[in-house]
Amino acid sequence: SGIITLDPGYKNSGSCKSDITFLDGELGILRYRGYSIEDLAEKADFLEVSYLLIFGELPTTKQLAQFETDIRKYTLVNEEMKNIIDGFPKTAHPMGVLAALTSALTAFNPKSVNVENEKEMYEAVCKTMGKFLVIATWTYRKSMGYPLNYYDNTKGYVENFMRLMFELPTEPYTANPVVIDALDKLFILHGDHEQNCSTSTVRMVGSSHAGLFASISAGVSALWGPLHGGANQAVLEMLEEIHRNGGDADKYMAKAKDKNDPFRLMGFGHRVYKNFDPRAKIIKKAANEVLATLGVEDPILAIAKKLEEAALEDEYFKSRNLYPNVDFYSGIIYRALGIPTDMFTVMFAIGRLPGWIAQWKEMRENKEPIGRPRQVYTGHPLRDFVPTDKR
Ligand code: CMC
Repeated sequence: SGIITLDPGYKNSGSCKSDITFLDGELGILRYRGYSIEDLAEKADFLEVSYLLIFGELPTTKQLAQFETDIRKYTLVNEEMKNIIDGFPKTAHPMGVLAALTSALTAFNPKSVNVENEKEMYEAVCKTMGKFLVIATWTYRKSMGYPLNYYDNTKGYVENFMRLMFELPTEPYTANPVVIDALDKLFILHGDHEQNCSTSTVRMVGSSHAGLFASISAGVSALWGPLHGGANQAVLEMLEEIHRNGGDADKYMAKAKDKNDPFRLMGFGHRVYKNFDPRAKIIKKAANEVLATLGVEDPILAIAKKLEEAALEDEYFKSRNLYPNVDFYSGIIYRALGIPTDMFTVMFAIGRLPGWIAQWKEMRENKEPIGRPRQVYTGHPLRDFVPTDKR
């Protein structure tokens, strides 16, 4: 009852209190649990940051080793899951398959987690981290018609990602430290981003006390959209198209500014960052380094830089505070690492997983009420029913 405040897209509404991620959009600051994203990307590894996000503190050497071991215990995925994967056409988008498989995990893990039991919560965290990585790579194996691969207990989490994806019976995978480091950094940069669309979705679904897998599956679906995580695939497709059409960046700038054209410059703009996206800065630098170290020459990188320069000089983009976001340069690195374009958003999902888990856990531990926004009704007033023959 009472007056309802209307705020479409929740541009000015806080949905919760949170101790996890600090973000200042004006100053371009991003911190996980108080640690700057620059420091974490440079000095920590992905599992360390996952632990930090989920449990609130950086792990000790012993805690980190235990965390890795415990995740490993859960990397075996029920064999019956393979029947589900087999039901999909090879052409299915990996994000759709990932959402379905994550949801299917609820069938094999039906017991709901007692969030007040620390041990049960810890197990649920490790299980999710373990199984999600494996099924994420299976979406790719399926699309390629490759046999599904299993986690190698002698290798680290990020290296396992590459092995799970690319190792073939005829082609053993040899890790290149440059590749593993770059991936580690990218996953860290995607780790959490406070109440973005997919995270809000995970919290909202979880607020009805739906389980962790079900909530995360909903997060995967939310992430898929091109205005959110799907932007990384859309950016690369846009850059490829510009390249195919002769590299005329100005033409696409004009399209993006044309209000009669629905086209948007993908990888530009952000709801919260109105100055720069600190993740984009780090990723741009990493993209330069990775390409140079791997000796990859990609004309797409030059197009991206040209677009960025043009946009930074442009009145339309300047007046609307539109800057490159996290998705603008990440695809260029993924491409250099041999990740297929339709897997880019899956990469984002793997990186965001610890953030989703941390937010779900916090929401339940804080005993938040069920999410249930109100609305302002704009439909008909009361109408008399008209029988079918009188309409
Ligand atoms: N190209 C052209 N114009 C744009 C763009 C763009 N990429 N982004 C925003 N605008 C314009 C928009 O048309 C509007 O103009 P006007 O005031 O004249 O109507 C103004 O800028 C404000 O945009 P908005 O849509 O009201 O802003 P929002 O906060 O609702 O949307 C956004 C934020 C990220 C969805 C949007 O900037 C966008 O669609 N960007 C392209 C997609 C993208 O890169 N998404 C990734 C976001 S970062 C990582 C993630 O979340 O996954």
